Amino acid sequence: MSELRLIVRSNELRALLPGGEVITLHPLWLRERCRDAKNMDPKTEQRLFNPSNLATDLSIVAITTPGCGEFIVRFNDGACCAITAVDVQRELPQYSDADLPVKLPWRCDNTPPPSVDWRDCGDGVVQHQALSAFLSCGYIVISNVPARRGCVLEVARRFGIPRETNFGVLFDVCSVPDANDLAYTSLPLDPHTDNPYRTPVPGIQLLHCISNPCAGGLSTLVDGMEAARRLRETAPEDFDMLCQTKVKFRYTDCDCELVAHAPLIELDRDGEFAGIHYSPRLDFVPLLPYEELERFYAARRWLNTLLTSPELERRFRLADGDLIMFDNRRLLHGRTGFEGSTGRRHLQGCYIDADGPRSRYRVLNRGLICST
Ligand code: OGA
Ligand code: ZN
Repeated sequence: MSELRLIVRSNELRALLPGGEVITLHPLWLRERCRDAKNMDPKTEQRLFNPSNLATDLSIVAITTPGCGEFIVRFNDGACCAITAVDVQRELPQYSDADLPVKLPWRCDNTPPPSVDWRDCGDGVVQHQALSAFLSCGYIVISNVPARRGCVLEVARRFGIPRETNFGVLFDVCSVPDANDLAYTSLPLDPHTDNPYRTPVPGIQLLHCISNPCAGGLSTLVDGMEAARRLRETAPEDFDMLCQTKVKFRYTDCDCELVAHAPLIELDRDGEFAGIHYSPRLDFVPLLPYEELERFYAARRWLNTLLTSPELERRFRLADGDLIMFDNRRLLHGRTGFEGSTGRRHLQGCYIDADGPRSRYRVLNRGLICST
């Protein structure tokens, strides 16, 4: 069902938006959407013409309504477009992700984390449920992944395509001498997003526990979307400060020097939360006037308080074979320090792009819709 209505006014098609605004649909906008075999390849659903080459005097010559909510629009170049109110609504910016689960900000409560057993993930319905939970909460715990090296890639390939970085296609997270990243020590890691110094930032991270017998080494997860929501509610000026100040993130070792600039909190064009870039060990605020820096530091301190508050942070021990997959632009992860002398803690990690699970979800959705 569409909340938008289409109205015909002589040779114009108008959309009455849910908020009451009326938009006259541009003839070119409609002409671009001709889906017949002359204008669109039925297999790839790609356009067979370049719309920039259409006549500048393109116009609508007739609009008919044969039924079933369809509007048939005829153009002066002989082409014809069939469109419904649902088709038009789908193209509104605020509906661009309407086919995906709504993102639900979460805090630490007594509810169990979203989880799935890897042994059940061959089933399309289970996978669809798991992806739905992942897309709405920004993470999922996948249990019973064989606690063997390399299995993290098998899971990654189920949901997307592994993205190789200078750390390799997968990386071993364990304490090593002469580490090139603090992740590869036994030090605690405060909540952070990974690799904010990269362009683009890795979309999704997978961390798979091979062994975790030592004292300490608990994992932490916190929803940056919920922290940002609270910051905006309780300290709007701090929130604005963190959205407006681009900080530098930098990683360097003997082979690379990666630098990127991003605000700690990123908004989309509608002013809604789009992502968080946060890594207290890697961020460098630019040189700003003293007063501005005072405000920036106060704002960052308040964000940090939220990110580390027990009310928001989930803290848990990964068991051998557990894997967490999380949205690296929304959630922050970390760990408590551990005692290397009490056993070998070994995780393996990798990244996939953010679009992988979304694509998989849509494809499964398609299958589920077809079969019902
Ligand atoms: C990392 C990381 C967490 C952990 O490797 O990026 O944050 O539990 N590891 O060791
Ligand atoms: Zn990390």
